Amino acid sequence: AGAQRLALKGNLLDFTAKPQWAHLDDGAVRWRPEHWLLIEDGRIVGAQTQDPGEGWLRQDYGQRLLLPGFIDTHVHAPQLEVMASYGTELLDWLQRYTFPAEMRFGDPEVAQEGAERFIQVLLAHGSTSAVVFPTVHKHSAQALFEAARSRGMRLITGKVLMDRHAPDGLRDDVQQAREDCEDLIARYHGVDRLAYAVTVRFAPTSTPEQLAMAGALCRSDASLYMQTHVAENRSECAWVAELFPQARSYLDVYEQAGLLHPRAVMAHGIWLDEQDRAVLRQRGAHVAHCPSSNLFLGSGVFDWRAAHESGLAVSLASDVGAGTSLNLLRNLGDAYKLQALGGQRLSAWVGLHAATLGAAEALSLSHEIGHLSEGTMADVCVWDWSCGAVDAWRQSRAAALHERVFAWMNLADERHLHACYVAGRPVLTPSTPGAAA
Ligand code: GUN
Ligand code: ZN
Repeated sequence: AGAQRLALKGNLLDFTAKPQWAHLDDGAVRWRPEHWLLIEDGRIVGAQTQDPGEGWLRQDYGQRLLLPGFIDTHVHAPQLEVMASYGTELLDWLQRYTFPAEMRFGDPEVAQEGAERFIQVLLAHGSTSAVVFPTVHKHSAQALFEAARSRGMRLITGKVLMDRHAPDGLRDDVQQAREDCEDLIARYHGVDRLAYAVTVRFAPTSTPEQLAMAGALCRSDASLYMQTHVAENRSECAWVAELFPQARSYLDVYEQAGLLHPRAVMAHGIWLDEQDRAVLRQRGAHVAHCPSSNLFLGSGVFDWRAAHESGLAVSLASDVGAGTSLNLLRNLGDAYKLQALGGQRLSAWVGLHAATLGAAEALSLSHEIGHLSEGTMADVCVWDWSCGAVDAWRQSRAAALHERVFAWMNLADERHLHACYVAGRPVLTPSTPGAAA
């Protein structure tokens, strides 16, 4: 059999560089209206205005938007069932809602069903790649790897490390955790599109010995990712200062343990200072900004502009279940409002870049995902400009490209997702256009 050749037509939107802050007419934006995106064996091989002809399975999406699949750089698979839980800030929220939910994943069957459900809904919200927290249980990481692998998805995860300040049934110990990590790394890291992340929940739930073990794992293989939370909430920061009196700052706990490196994904980072941001830059680590979560838990206003202009990379993340939507457009709408509260304005370009190419670059994956260039994998989402009378009317009144895309970013959500391809395969529903391919 010859190569599988697929051509998708629509308005192609992606980025070729990092946009400047609040620049509406930015050279980093690549807008290719009414182009055919050419895909062979799951990879993008080109884009052109001419119809590629009969050797291709052609799908004409008209004026719809074709974007690289979003990359959710921080999300918790077991927390779908605690989304939108009432009345708490971070530390109480963990105790009252989150830990009990994660405990249920101690049952391998629950973890497996949960992983399948999570991957399915993630895709249905327009994210084709993610950096994911499962639970402390080894089988929960394994279930996520398998669910992603069966779909040919790019996924980064690793079993959660937590050996203190968590209830019975949610704690590991240093020795068992190391063995579980090593086994999962051997079986999944670098296999197909999977990668392992050394996953420290956050400083308060790991002993210094466990943090040291996690640092040693990172040093043993520079291709491993690391994911954790940092400086999300003021009570959390005060607690870390108590637990680690010798550390200069919350971030310094991770620095001392050797956890900061180019593949470290640091969720939140709201309460970092200038010196912390300099350390992150020096180490090549980046911040996963979680606007919906930060609003929902009342955690604070992340200074995106300061990070952007200091050269610290920022990606975008849902942080479900503290975040209230897996859809990164809704998260960008929240991000705009958060920045407005902080006296700043987020352009559609800076926002969408953070959800695509910016995230891919921060994860050292821009050879594979985040843009619609020759050689990258065909992880593509097809979006409607509108799906109701109000946003259709708003779009009809928009002229310049930024105005159209900015209105779309703020008014659209997962209901606007028309089709979704992972490695050139339609993944939404059996009736997705092109499913016959
Ligand atoms: N800090 C430690 N654990 C968590 C979590 O599950 N969610 C959020 N938002 N912050 C955390
Ligand atoms: Zn989180």
